[in-house]
Amino acid sequence: MKKYVIRGGKPLEGEVRISGGKNAAVAIIPATLLVNGVCIVENVPAVNDVILLTKIMSELGAKVSFLDKTTLRVDATEIHTCSAVSELVRKMRASYYLIGVLLGRFGKACVGLPGGCDFGVRPIDYHIRGFEALGSTVTIEHGIVNAVAENGLKGASMSLDFPSVGATINIMMAAVLAEGTTIIENAGKEPHIVDIANFLNAMGAEIRGAGTDTIKIKGVKELHGGRYEIIPDQIEAGTYMVMAAAVGGRIKVSNVIPKHLESISAKLEEIGVTVEEDDDFIVVSREPGTVMNKVNVKTLPYPGFPTDMQPQMSTLLCLAKGTSIVTEGIYEHRFRYVDELRRMGAKMDVDGRVCVITGIEKFSGASVCACDLRAGVSLVIAGLCADGMTEITNVHLIERGYEDIIEKLKGLGASIGVVDDEENLSQQVSGTTAG
Ligand code: EPZ
Repeated sequence: MKKYVIRGGKPLEGEVRISGGKNAAVAIIPATLLVNGVCIVENVPAVNDVILLTKIMSELGAKVSFLDKTTLRVDATEIHTCSAVSELVRKMRASYYLIGVLLGRFGKACVGLPGGCDFGVRPIDYHIRGFEALGSTVTIEHGIVNAVAENGLKGASMSLDFPSVGATINIMMAAVLAEGTTIIENAGKEPHIVDIANFLNAMGAEIRGAGTDTIKIKGVKELHGGRYEIIPDQIEAGTYMVMAAAVGGRIKVSNVIPKHLESISAKLEEIGVTVEEDDDFIVVSREPGTVMNKVNVKTLPYPGFPTDMQPQMSTLLCLAKGTSIVTEGIYEHRFRYVDELRRMGAKMDVDGRVCVITGIEKFSGASVCACDLRAGVSLVIAGLCADGMTEITNVHLIERGYEDIIEKLKGLGASIGVVDDEENLSQQVSGTTAG
């Protein structure tokens, strides 16, 4: 069983380069199936979810290959099935995009219900209602979604009950080849929604308004191949910013779009952390031992504070002076990681969507287990701050969304290593033997 071993207490110094956006990549990569030709996608993060998607797409008949570590070539000319029901499909949430792209290009899709992080019921009813509004019939039997548009998809106007990221993207992708115009009201505005719209427009789609709450998609006959570069991952960037604040030190987070990080930068400054912005990098610093102010946080759709940064921010607030309140505005149960932080000395009380956090001096190292992607990386943050050694298991969940996290942290001076099994226990944690 692979685990991370961390010796805490070392301030972080140096520069970390942010990879391409995981949530942009897991939508843009399936979107290449809409194209009757070859797409070259650059700045693809080398993370497990991307690898999984490429395997699923190959099973559909797409010719998928990496030209280098972060450049993907997809030739979707010869897709020989619209059925994606293998075990792989259930391993991630983004599998639902296969429904939108297969339905959009071929008028039918047979896809296993998605999996993904477990923090509450995560239905896809908004997606399905959107596909039905476009003229398809959708049924779910034996855990498989069957969508068929006998007469092809027809543009329609619709309004989402909630600005769902996935539903906005999925309906947009299904609509690009539909006959007529589609209007999505109350659409999500996340940066990766804009990124997918830009990718599709680069391939010949006619999408306007992405990034606002009203998106208009004028159906076109066909999409052509081309080249596109994915935006940097704002959640990976925010995670390293919070790490620097929690552990102390000074780091340069490079290859970012500061505008995408505004809510995170603002909250860090409110806490008393120094944040200096430039065109494509941000410097975050805090003198170790300086007091951090308690703050209240509520997660909201973009441009509000992102839910995918809630575990990381809550971990940081464990070290602030006083009592902070974190409200999870998106999911019913996104505090499952609190039990693991309590093992490290955290003082956190959860009541449904609200977590009351009382500041402590420092975390104490312990053996803990990641329960999902962002919860897992929050345990890394706590381990980097903790007194003594921390061991984290279930780290494959962290590697779903953080490219080269061990190398990047070592580059910032962290004392962290990976232990694959007890036998090859080695002095991977610089300066110490993992306990
Ligand atoms: C995307 O999930 C991200 N995943 C999530 O990131 C992220 O937390 C979420 O957006 C919000 O930003 C991917 O992009 C692969 P939603 P998604 O549809 O699309 C409810 C990570 O850590 N809902 O905006 O599933 C839903 O239950 C992951 O990178 C419905 O009720 O998010 C949730 O309460 C975790 N019916 C809320 O809406 C639907 O049909 C927001 O979900 C769809 C969603």
